[in-house]
Amino acid sequence: MTAFELRRKYIEYFKEHGHKEIPSAPVVPENDPTVLFTTAGMHPLVPYLLGQPHPQGNRLTDYQKCIRTGDIEEVGDNSHLTFFEMLGNWSLGDYFKNESIHMSYELLDKVLGFDMDKISVTCFEGEDGIPKDEEAASYWVDAGIPRERIYFLGRKHNWWGPAGETGPCGPDTEIFYDTGKPACGPNCDPSCSCGKYLEIWNNVFMQYNKTKEGTYEPLKQKNVDTGMGLERVIGLLEGKPSVYETELFKAEIDKIKELAKNPNEQSSRIIADHLRTSIFMIIDGVRPSNVDQGYILRRLLRRVIRHMRKIELDTNAIDVLVTTFIDEILYEMYPETKSNKDVCVEVIVAEKDKFIKTLENGEKEFAKNAAKVKEQGGNKLPGELVFRLYDTFGFPPEMTDELAKENDLTLDMAEFDKLFQEHQEKSRAGAEQKFKGGLADHSEQTTAYHTATHLLHKALQIVLGPHATQKGSNLTAERLRFDFANPTKLTPEELQRVEDIVNEQIQRDLKVTCEEMTLEEARESGATGLFENKYGDKVKVYTIGDFSKEICGGPHVEHTGDMGHFKIKKEEAVSSGVRRIKAVLEK
Ligand code: ALA
Repeated sequence: MTAFELRRKYIEYFKEHGHKEIPSAPVVPENDPTVLFTTAGMHPLVPYLLGQPHPQGNRLTDYQKCIRTGDIEEVGDNSHLTFFEMLGNWSLGDYFKNESIHMSYELLDKVLGFDMDKISVTCFEGEDGIPKDEEAASYWVDAGIPRERIYFLGRKHNWWGPAGETGPCGPDTEIFYDTGKPACGPNCDPSCSCGKYLEIWNNVFMQYNKTKEGTYEPLKQKNVDTGMGLERVIGLLEGKPSVYETELFKAEIDKIKELAKNPNEQSSRIIADHLRTSIFMIIDGVRPSNVDQGYILRRLLRRVIRHMRKIELDTNAIDVLVTTFIDEILYEMYPETKSNKDVCVEVIVAEKDKFIKTLENGEKEFAKNAAKVKEQGGNKLPGELVFRLYDTFGFPPEMTDELAKENDLTLDMAEFDKLFQEHQEKSRAGAEQKFKGGLADHSEQTTAYHTATHLLHKALQIVLGPHATQKGSNLTAERLRFDFANPTKLTPEELQRVEDIVNEQIQRDLKVTCEEMTLEEARESGATGLFENKYGDKVKVYTIGDFSKEICGGPHVEHTGDMGHFKIKKEEAVSSGVRRIKAVLEK
């Protein structure tokens, strides 16, 4: 079975069981400032898990591109990836544990042909107020899993969510495959990370909402949220011990090894994983920078370059690695990679050139400091230099160590470790900040920015022409960012006109209304929409007075009156033919 067939079989199975297929969302959440990337299929569904009716009904299924960079250091082992595809199915207040468990069993057994004797499951062991999930266990027994392969585990393993600080969550039941590796000890069970048990699917029974106060309130409805890791499952179905040996990576890994003078397995895997993730980030509009998503992209690409140098693979061949990946693997499951091949190559090569320059500057910095230490009769380089080379020039300490050895010098690693730790704490605090507010908490300010985005979109089309359509958008509670098609830089006069038009609509205190209709009705009514079909056949159309009409998931303000004063802060190029505006609402 190919990965493509696995995806189809999964989706078809749930469609046969009354689910509607919904389109995948981008890897960068469009209107959710609280997370950098889509990390699970449920992200775009949060409002519906909380109780809002979904236009497509209460049984949904999809495949979703996900990015998780939390385990970036683990990449290179058999199963960790920074980008993966999650196959998912949802019940929004419809079926619950019984049907969910029986469907999962049947799909694994009858459709995918798993050896069910190798399947174990875990259920929530319970804690104050929330009972041990004997109910889920009894459905597993009923489906065909013997008691001895059902394990009860605590919150750390069998509770999922919320994805941010607040939002839907609940106990889960996880499905594991026994890889046949010998148990690492008498207590080895699915919670163990020795590699014997591989998690393949997670069924979350989302019946709680975690509040800002940290309490758990029952949700209006009981939901099911499941996620199956496509890469892992295809690995097991192909009988491959590692995801990197599957058809999803093999041609790329082979190419890397062929081009490298001194190849090794781990570096080849890191290069392949990070390039794949970078390609999907670039397609969804991320560009290397020093903040947010752009910083993660930069970090991934720098790691690619470092590992290319490590295995003596000419960094000028990075374009070959990108095109090989797209032409030989990715295009089939992700046709968007083919149409975006040029931009992917362009962005990755430009970032490589920039980083190589930084590396050369770092090498000069090293040489200067090494000479100084030697002049003073010393042989140890200060930890501060090691850290500066790491932080500013992107030198991993191992690389500095190699350079030092070539110069008969050692490094003050104790001082480096101290500085590194301080830096880690700072960036961790920054990352946690990102989750503040939680996924479901679309603050008033973010909502106002959302409405301002529609006003801006329309104003740009009035001033520049109908070609000025939306190419991307990103909101925080502090600003909006809007990418749109236009061949040239905007003149100060054009910017002023756009600003004036938006402010005029705010002053008119227009009423914002929302209607649900089919995509065809929406088009006929003259609504614009960038992400066509994204919400399925039935869509929401937001109308702002007589000014704008757009297909959109919301949320929006009810009246434009108290949004504040709209001010454009910056207008710049994103790529050829695409401009970006950053703007704020001043109160
Ligand atoms: N949302 C669940 C997960 O990511 C299914 O594991």
